[in-house]
Amino acid sequence: MILKNLPRDFIWGTATAAHQVEGNNTNSDFWHLEHTKDTTFAEPSGIACDQWNKYEEDIDIMADHSIQAYRLSVEWARIEISEGQFSQEAIDHYKKVLDYCRKKGLKTCVTFQHFTSPLWFTARGGWENQDNVDLFVRYSEKVSKELDDYMDTVCTINEANLTSCFAHSFPSYPEGGMKTIMPFVSEAAKSCGSNLENFGPFLFGHPFKIRDCMMEAHVKSFSVIKGNLNKNQPVGITLSIMDYQCIDGGEAMRDKAHAESVDICLDQVKNDDFIGIQTYTRHTYGPEGILKPNTNESTMLVMGYEYYPESLENVLRYVAPKINCPMIVTENGIGTDDDEQRISYVKTALEGLQRCIDDGLDIRGYYYWSFLDNFEWLYGYKPRFGLIEVDRETLVRKSKKSLKFYQEIIEKSS
Ligand code: BGC
Repeated sequence: MILKNLPRDFIWGTATAAHQVEGNNTNSDFWHLEHTKDTTFAEPSGIACDQWNKYEEDIDIMADHSIQAYRLSVEWARIEISEGQFSQEAIDHYKKVLDYCRKKGLKTCVTFQHFTSPLWFTARGGWENQDNVDLFVRYSEKVSKELDDYMDTVCTINEANLTSCFAHSFPSYPEGGMKTIMPFVSEAAKSCGSNLENFGPFLFGHPFKIRDCMMEAHVKSFSVIKGNLNKNQPVGITLSIMDYQCIDGGEAMRDKAHAESVDICLDQVKNDDFIGIQTYTRHTYGPEGILKPNTNESTMLVMGYEYYPESLENVLRYVAPKINCPMIVTENGIGTDDDEQRISYVKTALEGLQRCIDDGLDIRGYYYWSFLDNFEWLYGYKPRFGLIEVDRETLVRKSKKSLKFYQEIIEKSS
């Protein structure tokens, strides 16, 4: 497959996030949640893919397969070990990682916060408490000053709108978020000296408070980060945007989902340097709310997602007229054990992207999620999104056929 007429600066990349691949993120809120009694996490993240130590190997594989950019996240919990106390060792580590990308000819796209936060932050209200926004801004200021030269693109926060999507994705989603119905979160709050009301981890807290807090943190840190970047590198946010559809009578529900989880955020970031688009599937609404995915066994994916690669085109077309800046597909991919299915998914998704390019949509890059099979949050290591398999015993990396397929697309289309 060849993509044509791409903008000259179009970039082909792959993405990961610190907690999902680095291993031993012990100072983070998620580590604490994973290790709380009766946790809902299928398993703890543990050593993950040990990318903290194996980053050179991973970057070598990317370079050897013509991948042009690596989207990774730096871990706040490692960088700001306690409030106001920054670890130069962690910062220097990330400088080495990003520098190695450079040496191997890869561009870097750096996310400052991808789901996890320091436990000390979460224990004082985390993302539910608007007073904490300035803590993120201070962290962003530090990271942007330190890593300036090493970053080609910056994403402040990953999927700041995700919890508000959850509120529209599950029937009778609890008003105060998952934490109100998951006793282990209450236990986790207590065991770090907080309480449920003042414990605000991403994913589990009040869906709209988290959205608003994160969006404010993005807006405030945007100008601080821009002020620290010497080469005027592009800065943006990434948003989770499902392809919301409806059957007759479901229009109002679909529009509400769009309004509360997508449009309200796009309005605040439409003049940024870019918007990061992240999409995996569709959701369909009927008059009573979200419908069960219309799938049979072969199209139902491991996390209950419907196989629906067409979502990428639909989402790009939905977002384009609402913003005044380019889009970058910062995540798109599929969790499956069937690598042929992954190849078909990427092919169909990219055919959609091609049609968008042909129609003049301003799209500057595509990052496949994920480079490696990694820690898929509450689901543990079962869902496999990677182009590379990771042996859970030995952590040895093994390329899948889809990696070769992706490499050929990049080589032919660049
Ligand atoms: C997240 C990733 C996650 C992926 C697949 C996205 O929402 O940014 O961290 O692994 O979806 O579920």
